Amino acid sequence: MIIDTHAHYDDEAFEQDRDILLGGFPEQGIEKVINSGASVASSREGLRLSQRWPSVYCALGVHPNELAALTDEILEEFQLLSAEPKVVAIGEIGLEYHYEEPPREIQALWFRKQIALAKRVGLPIIVHSRDAVQDTLDIIRETGAAEVGGVIHCFSAGPEIAECYVRLGFYLGIGGVVSFKNGKKLKEVVREMPLERLLLETDSPYLSPEPHRGKRNSSLNLPYVAAEIAALKDISPEEVIRQTHENALRCFPKLKN
Ligand code: NI
Repeated sequence: MIIDTHAHYDDEAFEQDRDILLGGFPEQGIEKVINSGASVASSREGLRLSQRWPSVYCALGVHPNELAALTDEILEEFQLLSAEPKVVAIGEIGLEYHYEEPPREIQALWFRKQIALAKRVGLPIIVHSRDAVQDTLDIIRETGAAEVGGVIHCFSAGPEIAECYVRLGFYLGIGGVVSFKNGKKLKEVVREMPLERLLLETDSPYLSPEPHRGKRNSSLNLPYVAAEIAALKDISPEEVIRQTHENALRCFPKLKN
């Protein structure tokens, strides 16, 4: 059975059919899904979804472009909520230099504060990093985030950086991009990194794999991602699904709840 380690089912793209989709996952081979927080509101909504649907778990965290609503009081709220059985991680948190709003210093400040929160509550982190390869790695090293570990979501750097994260004990989140014709760098990463360090993820509703590229994504598309990883590593899709399932439970121990 498949575990989708990164999706956004609170997104309005699922307004019409969210209940049918989430309720139907177990029969369709999707065992568990982590709804990743992106804003303050989506973190709270993700928690509600996890309380309603047995297969849904959640992460609490604020994406670097959504920091305007974040305060120390809200991080205290997240700290209390993180004791809930289905809160499995702090995320998604990190650096987004493609859109530098707010400025880099502010992004770094809240990235560090949210890593500190993860260490306080003993939960792994889900890291968003775009056009910020070196700064992300530096902050992860300086803060000792490896103590709690986690995943570099939608991994987009090359094999050398991948290797740094694997050595630190982190996992690499692999989604639809691996199936794209222009996903050469990610294909190389998948070929070279150990299967034991890869996680399946969708980032739904974004980043649908081929042959559904450009359409709304959902966890139901993960077999295409597993098949692509299998082809790159010359193993069976079943082996990819079995091993990434084990990896997800190792990375996010509370998924066993
Ligand atoms: Ni995301």
